[in-house]
This record gives sequence, structure tokens and C-alpha cells, in this order.
Amino acid sequence: MSDILISPSILAADFAKLGEEVRAIDVAGADMIHIDVMDGHFVPNLTIGPGVVKALRPHSQKPFDVHLMISPVDAYLEDFANAGADLITAHPEAGPHFHRTVQAIKKLGKKAGAALNPSTPASELDYVLEELDLVLIMSVNPGFGGQSFIENQLRKIEEIRERIEKLGTSTILEVDGGVTPDNCTKVINAGANALVAGSAVFKNGPENYAKSIAALRE
Ligand code: DX5
Ligand code: ZN
Repeated sequence: MSDILISPSILAADFAKLGEEVRAIDVAGADMIHIDVMDGHFVPNLTIGPGVVKALRPHSQKPFDVHLMISPVDAYLEDFANAGADLITAHPEAGPHFHRTVQAIKKLGKKAGAALNPSTPASELDYVLEELDLVLIMSVNPGFGGQSFIENQLRKIEEIRERIEKLGTSTILEVDGGVTPDNCTKVINAGANALVAGSAVFKNGPENYAKSIAALRE
């Protein structure tokens, strides 16, 4: 595993053959499998639930990086944990008691992440950052793949990196949305050490998954 973690988002995969797609990105060098869960309420799109996560679990041994864009979230944590999630990331904007959500994820024996929408400041995490295994900076508004990277999120990546360094923790700093080989260098330079990529990995077809993942790593 390299220093930079690549977590392809299967939102951009062929949903008619998801198991095969997960196996293909695993073999192509993905470090984690990013799974976008949307509820049609917190975000204006509907995707997949714990049943699909469970069905995908036998197709890869790589960590399942499950991004929950659902509200309320607490009632579903156990289902996703049992389905095989390794990392569970929720949005503090999605409910009133985010600290409780983080505690609940950890109690289930899973790694806990916080995802910040583009308009949410870094300070949202001031009193919970030390509890987190991962921070996910959304560089697009959540809900859809294929959107353009919002430039001012680079500043937020820098701010969170600074706070993680100050704490001295090994919290993963992941960036999600519009990440491409053209902009990933500045994302990494700002302090990210994990990249989510949907379109950038899947759009060139299965025969190029390894090349597309390598292009982000380089
Ligand atoms: C957006 C999702 C992202 C998205 C990334 O709500 O969280 O993971 O699928 O897709 P691209 O890389 O196409 O922006
Ligand atoms: Zn995501």
C-alpha cells in the first residue's frame, strides 16, 4: 500500500455488474472501495443500502470505505457495520449529535469518519477531531458523481491537515468529488493522503482501471 490511498467510488461503476466492478478495481490497485450511500433526503439522489454492501463484501478483501449521505444516520450504523463496512463516514450536517454518531461507529468496532460539505467550515470538527480515524472533505456538493472540483476546498484541506498535525494523530485526510489526474497534485500538496475518484477511474473503461488509478497515484 502506497502513502496515498486511492478509493475509487463505485457510484461511477456499472451497477448491472457491481461485484465484477469491485473485483476489477481491487485487482487494478485500489487501496479501498468507496461506497456512496444516498437517501433522497439528505442528498437529492438514491443509491444503495446495506444489502448491496453485504452482497459486494465477498468480492474484495480491501477496506470498504462507506460514505453515508443519509439523515438520520444512527439507526443504520449497525446494518452497515454488519454488512462489512470497515470505515463508516457520516456527515455532521445530517444530525444534531455527531459526537454520539462517532461513538456509536467506534462501539461497533469500525473506523469513524466525518464528511464536510463544501460550505461547512473546518471548525465544525474542533471538538471531535481527536476521535476520528478519517476526515472526508467534499470538494463537490454531495449527491452526484461527475461534478467539478470546488477550488476553495483546498484551503479547508490545509486547515484540517494543520489541525491533525497539531494533534499528532494518524487521521486519514480524504478528498471526495471532482478529483482528476489534473488536480490531484494540488490536493495532495494541500495535505490530503486519500483520494476518492469516481469518474476519473471508471470513465476510461475496465481495461484502463489500473492505468487510471496509477495516474492519480503519480
Ligand atoms: C458525491 C460522492 C462522490 C462521487 C465522486 O456525493 O460522495 O464519492 O461519487 O465522483 P467523482 O469522482 O465523479 O466526482
Ligand atoms: Zn463519496
